[in-house]
Amino acid sequence: MLEEGYFGLDLLERLCVHAIFYASYRTAHNARSPHFGQHAARKTAHTDPMKIPKGLEPLIEDGIVDEVIRSLKSGKEANVYIVRSGVQLRCAKVYRDLGQRSFQRRAQYQEGRKVRGSRETRAMAKSTRFGRKEQEHEWKNAEVDALYRLVEAGLRVPKPFGYFNGVLLMELVTDAHGDPAPRLGEVELSADAAREHHRVLIRQIVGMLSIGLIHGDLSEFNVLLASDGPVLIDLPQVVNAAGNNAAFAMLERDTNNIRSCLGRFAPELLETEFAAEMWELYEQGELRPQSELTGVFRRDAAPADAVGVMQAIDDAREEAIRRALARDEPAV
Ligand SMILES: Nc1ncnc2c1ncn2[C@@H]1O[C@H](COP(=O)(O)OP(=O)(O)OP(=O)(O)O)[C@@H](O)[C@H]1O
Ligand SMILES: [Mg+2]
Repeated sequence: MLEEGYFGLDLLERLCVHAIFYASYRTAHNARSPHFGQHAARKTAHTDPMKIPKGLEPLIEDGIVDEVIRSLKSGKEANVYIVRSGVQLRCAKVYRDLGQRSFQRRAQYQEGRKVRGSRETRAMAKSTRFGRKEQEHEWKNAEVDALYRLVEAGLRVPKPFGYFNGVLLMELVTDAHGDPAPRLGEVELSADAAREHHRVLIRQIVGMLSIGLIHGDLSEFNVLLASDGPVLIDLPQVVNAAGNNAAFAMLERDTNNIRSCLGRFAPELLETEFAAEMWELYEQGELRPQSELTGVFRRDAAPADAVGVMQAIDDAREEAIRRALARDEPAV
């Protein structure tokens, strides 16, 4: 019947049939393609969804997520998926259990972070089983909290949509075609584009430090290049600048990672010293999101006045001897 109908069509009508079949084939193919974009999502609502990962099952059951489109990346700390909620495509980050992940590294980041009560603090410090659970909970929440704080401060991070059963649901950061945005380290840039991204990223780092936060793991792998510019991601290790002894070292490492990535395209960036400059202002309580920075930092290069210091010590010693002699006591 169908064949009869098909062969009964003239050439133009047959071409139309082929076009319709091809369009439906592309739609199904796109859903599984790594280059799957937002416009494609709307068309693919009726194609077979992928098998639901365990971590996302409760979100599907609760109707928070309607469909898991595909896996975006399996990282060290989490699995990241593209999901659909209603007509919106979103990004779901399913944290791995801590398991054998390094607790020591974590401890350095968590220094200075406020935890609920002293029982929790003691447990975390001791790394008892309860402590591990607390630390894990704290680690996962830290990223969610940071995203809310940063969005509120007007910084460019993925917009969070909530934290459910160990899953962070957030904006899917996309490029100009609606596809998942590439990482900064994956793109070739003109010198001008590199300078502009550097300027924007320094502003982001300053903006974070102005509210007392340091990313702590910033690099070309944790910056996505969205259609509207660079977006910072991956914030579970966010550092409290005021309460952490290693804060400046982390700020400097973050800033210099960005510098060396973008300095490949605009070498003059390699000469800049933004971390030291913004840290000095921060320590003086004068850093603001809009603070003008030059990238030039004059370290106190004057040689220490060693002679003067020795002279002062000698003077003090002589004075002590004079007094001791006057009292007829042995001088030390
Ligand atoms: N909101 C998002 N929008 C688009 N892509 C994202 C988003 N969040 C994460 N990704 C993608 O998933 C990857 C892993 O995410 P993230 O860095 O947050 O997790 P991770 O487990 O710490 O990974 P890694 O160990 O590689 O750093 C990112 O490099 C990025 O390609
Ligand atoms: Mg990452």
